[in-house]
Amino acid sequence: MIDYARYDRVRAVAFDADRLRLLDQRRLPFEQTFLECRTADAVAQAIADLVVRGAPAIGIAAAWAVVLAGLSLGTASVAQARLALEPVLERLHAARPTAVNLAWALARMRGALAHAGEDWQARVRAEAEAIEREDLAANRRMGELGAARIAPGSGVLTHCNTGSLATAGFGTALGVIRAGVAQGRIARVFATETRPWMQGARLTVWEMREDGIDATLIADSAAAHLMGTGQVQWVIVGADRITARGDVANKIGTLQLAIAARHFGVKFMVVAPWSTVDLATASGADIPIEERDPAELLGHAGRRTVAEGVRAFNPVFDVTPAALIDAIVTERGVLLAPFDIALREASAAA
Ligand code: MRU
Repeated sequence: MIDYARYDRVRAVAFDADRLRLLDQRRLPFEQTFLECRTADAVAQAIADLVVRGAPAIGIAAAWAVVLAGLSLGTASVAQARLALEPVLERLHAARPTAVNLAWALARMRGALAHAGEDWQARVRAEAEAIEREDLAANRRMGELGAARIAPGSGVLTHCNTGSLATAGFGTALGVIRAGVAQGRIARVFATETRPWMQGARLTVWEMREDGIDATLIADSAAAHLMGTGQVQWVIVGADRITARGDVANKIGTLQLAIAARHFGVKFMVVAPWSTVDLATASGADIPIEERDPAELLGHAGRRTVAEGVRAFNPVFDVTPAALIDAIVTERGVLLAPFDIALREASAAA
């Protein structure tokens, strides 16, 4: 049994009566400040600006944004609420394109509203609570399932931030790592910096330190060297979207980790709740890949580090083909190749 009070101390999103408090991830690790959003549009902006980030967390924040928008409608009828909230749902949906959890959470909120009567305010609030609660439960379950695959004494490498900061709590890939450390299976944890936004350097190793987990930061470009020298037995990552054939969109750089892992015989695990599975998208080629401001590459901490006039290209996700993945861990179980069939079966079984 995992001591969650010890191994899960941070919360990224907290709804409080008439506002959503978001731990401002742009300012971590040195400042723990909260951005208070009182409108859905403020939440949409916070998602676009990466105040809150990570696929499940942006879905949860968007769900609470719909609750906030509902509150502003006061005693409106359910018919009026459906009409007024539809453009809000669309603006939230447009905040970031790749993580399907955002669209998934908004679809759930739309569904709750569609089935509600004049108690619609209570129904949308209950739905947001359920989305958040179910995500935490999924992460804990995935932690147990994923950790069970890891042989004692293993070294693991993770990319980006998939922890409590990116979810309702505990994390996806980081949940498996937390569980594996708690069970004494994992001997070494490595985290990539995750350029250019530095989710690994600024967030993941900080989260690990809060739990007292000994994690070592590496440059993104050191990953293949670590694998080639036998220090890593599993690469464990999260996902922003998993397609019907098992291709996985995740933070830029995941693909090159998967290629290096296969080259060196290192196992590759993707950990994501079912809300990340998008059976309506056939393959990785169909996933919209977010491109962010090239300025993220041209400077550091507000200071330009690259010569004026240089162009930069900044796609922030890539797609790892199913063939490079050894296991996809969801709360419905550990899926193995062929992933198209495993995903279809897990969908039908639910
Ligand atoms: O741009 P980000 O920081 O939102 O990207 C996050 C990732 O790519 C994570 O790996 C993914 O969302 C899974 S988080 C549990």
